[in-house]
Amino acid sequence: MGGKQINMGKREKVILVTGATGFLGSAITQRLLVSGCKLRLLIRKRENNTSPISFGREGLIKELILGNELDEYSQGQSRVIGDQLNNDKLLHELFFSNVEVYEGDITSGSLGLGKQEYKRLCNEVDEVFHCAAVTHFEMQGADEHVVVNIKGTENVLQFANFGKQKRLHYISTAYVAGKQNGIIYENEMRSEPLFNNEYERSKFVAERLVIKYAKSNDIPYTIYRPGIIVGDSRTGATCKFDNLYLFVKVLFNIENSFIKNKSEDLDDITIRVPGDPDALINLVPIDYVADAIVAILKKSESIGGIYHITNPNPPRLCELRDLVMTLLEIKGIDVKIDRELEKRSLSTVEKLFLRQTRSYYSYLFSRLRFDDSSTQAILRGTGVICPTMTKELVAVLIDFAVTHNWGEGKRTVLQKV
Ligand SMILES: NC(=O)c1ccc[n+]([C@@H]2O[C@H](COP(=O)([O-])OP(=O)(O)OC[C@H]3O[C@@H](n4cnc5c(N)ncnc54)[C@H](OP(=O)(O)O)[C@@H]3O)[C@@H](O)[C@H]2O)c1
Repeated sequence: MGGKQINMGKREKVILVTGATGFLGSAITQRLLVSGCKLRLLIRKRENNTSPISFGREGLIKELILGNELDEYSQGQSRVIGDQLNNDKLLHELFFSNVEVYEGDITSGSLGLGKQEYKRLCNEVDEVFHCAAVTHFEMQGADEHVVVNIKGTENVLQFANFGKQKRLHYISTAYVAGKQNGIIYENEMRSEPLFNNEYERSKFVAERLVIKYAKSNDIPYTIYRPGIIVGDSRTGATCKFDNLYLFVKVLFNIENSFIKNKSEDLDDITIRVPGDPDALINLVPIDYVADAIVAILKKSESIGGIYHITNPNPPRLCELRDLVMTLLEIKGIDVKIDRELEKRSLSTVEKLFLRQTRSYYSYLFSRLRFDDSSTQAILRGTGVICPTMTKELVAVLIDFAVTHNWGEGKRTVLQKV
């Protein structure tokens, strides 16, 4: 294991993080921890768990957040004071000395904390990093997106405004742009567009709320709008297997079960999938998203700014299709992207494909381009660059997903937490 360099110097900021158990939140938490910040993690209280947070659960949360990736993350840290730390034990000790875990819920007015605890945190915390959200696109509960993403953000804003003045970092999404087309600029305030789903709508409303509330209460704020996040560009590591992974998994399964088992010598099968071949799929690796956000967060000039954490050169849908087909070595099947698919009568396989990927349907037609000039300007000189979606990178992502069985094993670990 290589040497780890951790900032052990002057008093560091105390940052309250929401969503630290999530895909992006855990990557950000790792980086903030390594750079020496003191962290207060608001972790969602599990139903039926009335006891105070147990050491066992805290241990699981630590594992979930630190994972196996910390070694690589800490290599690149530049703000370094003190000796190099050479083993995991010290890092894990750092977690226990610099991190406090609070069970709560952003949907509750007091964030689900006790009165005293809430007050104490309000006066202790210097910055709030609000990352928690409902991120699926399906309508499960009638107003789940409203309650968690809008009302939850309102509660976090009130926390930021109560007691000591705090800086607020809010994770939005590039897709607050909804069903618009063309170029979307970072600081452009357009009127409310049409949306593809309730997730987009709730994130749009929450973002507007952040700007309005922060401006009228003098809260220094920064908004980050990531594109579609995929695994780590170097290792492929991800704990979330949605978006790109769903499509690849369906193709992978079709190849494995349908073609291989039933009709080995069959070729020239055409499977039509919905979409516009020229749609732009704005995939961004998690390491770029987290590195960029942490680099921006540390700069005071980012106050009041909105940053697209997006891919400046997103692949077109047809390019991605070709890469995936080559990498999965699928022969004998022609995957055709069809703009009018829903009007046609479908084969069983096509129905299966559509059923399993339906919630992403509209993104297969998107021509949105995200201008990221503010992000590029502020990242200049930091060495943080968005990797291009090359064949090699897509191979790393798919390889991780296949060797980790599309997250099936991980799910049981997450359920324990
Ligand atoms: N993933 C993407 O492609 C993407 C793209 C653009 C923007 N974003 C934004 O990035 C942020 C993080 O997304 P993600 O993909 O990392 O999501 P994720 O993996 O689904 O994680 C969501 C996090 O929010 C927490 N949470 C949900 N409801 C909560 C509640 N009521 N109280 C407290 N915590 C709650 C979850 O806690 P549990 O662990 O208890 O469920 C989890 O830690 C979100 O704001 C999302 O809108 C994501």
